This record gives sequence, structure tokens and C-alpha cells, in this order.
Amino acid sequence: MAAPRRARSRLSLSALLLLLAAGGVDHAHARWSGEGTSPHLRSIFLGRCADYLLLLGPQLRDKNCTAIWEAFKVVLDKDPCSVLPSDYDLFINLSRHSIPRDKSLFWENNQFLVTNYAENTRRFMPVSDILYGRTGNLLSWCRQKNASGLDYESCPTSEDCENNAVDSFWKRASMQYSKDSSGVIHVMLNGSEPTGAYPVKGFFADFEVPYFQKDKITRIEIWVMHEIGGPKVESCGEGSVKILEKRLKDMGFQYSCINDYLPVKLLKCVDHSTHPDCALNSAAASIQKEVPSLYAEQSAGLVIPLLVALASGAQM
Ligand SMILES: *[C@@H]1O[C@H](CO)[C@@H](O)[C@H](O)[C@H]1NC(C)=O
Ligand SMILES: *[C@@H]1O[C@H](CO)[C@@H](O)[C@H](O)[C@H]1NC(C)=O
Ligand SMILES: *[C@@H]1O[C@H](CO)[C@@H](O)[C@H](O)[C@H]1NC(C)=O
Ligand SMILES: *[C@@H]1O[C@H](CO)[C@@H](O)[C@H](O)[C@H]1NC(C)=O
Repeated sequence: MAAPRRARSRLSLSALLLLLAAGGVDHAHARWSGEGTSPHLRSIFLGRCADYLLLLGPQLRDKNCTAIWEAFKVVLDKDPCSVLPSDYDLFINLSRHSIPRDKSLFWENNQFLVTNYAENTRRFMPVSDILYGRTGNLLSWCRQKNASGLDYESCPTSEDCENNAVDSFWKRASMQYSKDSSGVIHVMLNGSEPTGAYPVKGFFADFEVPYFQKDKITRIEIWVMHEIGGPKVESCGEGSVKILEKRLKDMGFQYSCINDYLPVKLLKCVDHSTHPDCALNSAAASIQKEVPSLYAEQSAGLVIPLLVALASGAQM
């Protein structure tokens, strides 16, 4: 899978050797290739659920975190390689809620940037900012292979078996998220990802795009973000992004594609403030090139009141 929505880290060989040398967890002898069940799974799940209900307030009045947990935990009794997306139907049924129009944010290979940009539902609501996504985000869970009780050592990933508990969770969650999305759909892709910005097999391609509700969606906006100073492997209209654009077009969607969408680029620049690509006038220049008319209107709108304010300040 191209987009791990889980804590699974693909350790490089050297990192793995370091870990082993340091006497760390010996994954080489673990049964499965993924992280084991997260310690305190139940407490984290229930705490996140309660916290989320507080965050969104009265609109989620009908939700019952205990009932949602009980619906979720049926998969913890199943063979770790025999969990289907439909095993989460009741869980999703009890936890789903509407997504505000224009607030959906889909992504691949950008997990932490998306989380930061979404600002805990305040700016956007990616799947991890929906109650069902929030409860499982970055956690891992599975029953032991041949016994009841959870496996805290390792859990299967798609490399071990397709119907593992965590992937099936994200498949089911992704399908629901896509069906419930409306208005302008935003998609953040990583143009510095060596294997391509749009994984043609992945959660977005396989479990989100096919479930878009045509009648509820006004248009789709793709943002291809590049690492600051990093490689521009793909941009709008290139490689796998082009494949996505064609797919959306064939499906009859109106779409646009923006390279290094400025608000997100500015957020990335927080960590690279002295890099030349983050100089404010060069950031402004890149947006000017892409949307000249909008830029002209916006800058006039900002600059004129500023001049007026300066002028009146000077008179006082
Ligand atoms: C919440 O769900 C649990 C488990 O199904 C149930 O025992 C409890 O009565 C429910 N609470 C409310 C307030 O409905
Ligand atoms: C989900 O909830 C709806 C009511 O909101 C109900 O009609 C439906 O049968 C439920 N489905 C499941 C799988 O519980
Ligand atoms: C984008 O992909 C590159 C290459 O895999 C990676 O180093 C970088 O962390 C990714 N960016 C984000 C925001 O995840
Ligand atoms: C799993 O359990 C069955 C039945 O208890 C037993 O025959 C089998 O050897 C066990 N397999 C493993 C890998 O432990």
C-alpha cells in the first residue's frame, strides 16, 4: 500500500541493523511484518472518541463511545488475516457523521503535513479528523494467530495478507469518507515521492476515487506538493498525476491541479525559513505565475488598505 495510515514504519536496512545492534526489538523473528497491537488500545480509543465528541460538540450528541468501541472490538476476536472491511460496518454505522461541504482533504504520502494543515478539523477534515478515522489513527491491532488475546509483538500488513485488521479498517473508513464528501474535493499529493505522486494502487485510488458521489461534488482540486529544495519528481500534468487527471476527467469531474499550493507551501516553509524557495517574494512569484487574475485582485485588496493605513498613520 502506498499510504500507510498506521504507525508502521518501513525501516531501512541500516536502521534495522542499528536497532538490532542496539538490542532493540528483534523484528526479524516476529511472525508478521507490522507493528504489534498498540499498548492501551482500548483506553486510547475511548479517550480519543470522548475527546472528539467534545471537539465537535452538540452535532455528535447521539454518539456513544462505549457502543462504538464494542462494535469495533469484534475484529479483535477474528483471525488476524481474516478481517474484512465489512467487519467494520456496524462500527462505521455508529461512528459516522456528516462532513462539512468543501472540507474534505484526500491525500497520499503526506500524512503529517495533512494533519498539520488540517489543524484539528478547524481548516480541513481529512479522514483522520472524522470520528472513525480519529479513533484508529496511527494505531495497530490484531488478535494472535492461534489464540485468543491480542498480539502485542507484531500484526500482519498487506505484505503478509490482504485481509488484515488495520488495512481493512482503512479501506472501510476510506470508502465511507469518500461517499460522505461533498462540494470541492481537495487532494494533496507528494511530488517528491520517487514512486510517483499518485499511487495507481493505494487507498485513494482503490477505496476513495471509486466512491466519489458525482451529484454531490462540484469540482476536484489537486495540490502537488514538493519538498522544499527537494526533487520535483512529478508535477501537475506529469507521470502519475496525469493518470489521475485523466481518470477524473473520464469520470466527468471538473478538476484543477496546482503545484505547491501556497498555503501548504508556507506551512512547509516553517521548517525551512531560510531556504531561498521560502523567501516570501519567490513564494508570491510562484502563485502569480499560476493564477494571475486572482493574484492581482488579492494583492490589490491587501496592498491598498495597507497603504491607506500607513498614510493615515503618518498623518497622526
Ligand atoms: C452506550 O452503549 C453502551 C453499550 O452498548 C450501553 O450499555 C449504554 O447504555 C449506552 N449509553 C447510553 C447513554 O445510551
Ligand atoms: C445503520 O444505521 C441506519 C440508521 O441510521 C440503519 O438503518 C442501518 O440498518 C444501520 N446499518 C447497520 C449495518 O447497522
Ligand atoms: C514526500 O515524499 C518524500 C520522498 O518519499 C519524503 O521524504 C517526504 O517526507 C514526503 N513529504 C511528506 C510531507 O510526507
Ligand atoms: C494452531 O492451533 C491448532 C489447533 O489448536 C494446532 O493444531 C496448530 O498446530 C497451531 N498452529 C500453530 C502455528 O501454532
